[in-house]
Amino acid sequence: MTAPKILVFPGSNRSGSINAQLSATITKQLALMEADVTRISLLDYPLPLFSEDLQNEKGIPENVMKLARLFASHQGIVIVTPEYNSSLPPLLKNTIDWISRVSSDGDRPLAPYRGNIFALAAASGGGLGGIRVLPHLRDILVSIGAHVISEQLALAGAHNAYDDQENLKPGRSQDLLIHSLKNLRYMQGHEFIL
Ligand SMILES: Cc1cc2nc3c(=O)[nH]c(=O)nc-3n(C[C@H](O)[C@H](O)[C@H](O)COP(=O)(O)O)c2cc1C
Repeated sequence: MTAPKILVFPGSNRSGSINAQLSATITKQLALMEADVTRISLLDYPLPLFSEDLQNEKGIPENVMKLARLFASHQGIVIVTPEYNSSLPPLLKNTIDWISRVSSDGDRPLAPYRGNIFALAAASGGGLGGIRVLPHLRDILVSIGAHVISEQLALAGAHNAYDDQENLKPGRSQDLLIHSLKNLRYMQGHEFIL
């Protein structure tokens, strides 16, 4: 079987982001599992704040189309998000909303959320690890047609969670991470068979 193509990105553009750090760890782990993994930063795809007037006047921005094509060309997508006031950061919500406006690429249909499988993670310096953002993100993705695996990771105390090799220290977080990524891989295989 060919290696599943998996896209990983953090929902933060902050320098020194703990969610970017967790994305890097996830990317490394997926590569060890022999997935064909791509990690991107939303810093490379700057977007205006979504407005229907803007879309009607100027159409869908090229960076949105680039992201929609990336989504559609991967079978699995891992979103690693900060928690802001118990919910999604505006950068991530804006990105998801813009991409949800894409239904075609030229004269070809393009469905960026349907048909690929999402896994969710969050990192926070606090003790809850961003656990409250994850159901919000899950609901949004499911409502626009994505399949989201049930396993998820909320990494608490993210500033002290790594060893000096940038691996998660052994323990429950590391176990959960490996378990969810294995399931993402399994779901990929399942989808291919279907
Ligand atoms: C507006 C705002 C709201 C926040 N709300 C929460 C929160 O509800 N729960 C939490 O664990 N951390 C919260 N934080 C702290 C973030 O988890 C912290 O800034 C984290 O470093 C952001 O992720 P990043 O490093 O990947 O950018 C908040 C931060 C900001 C700026």
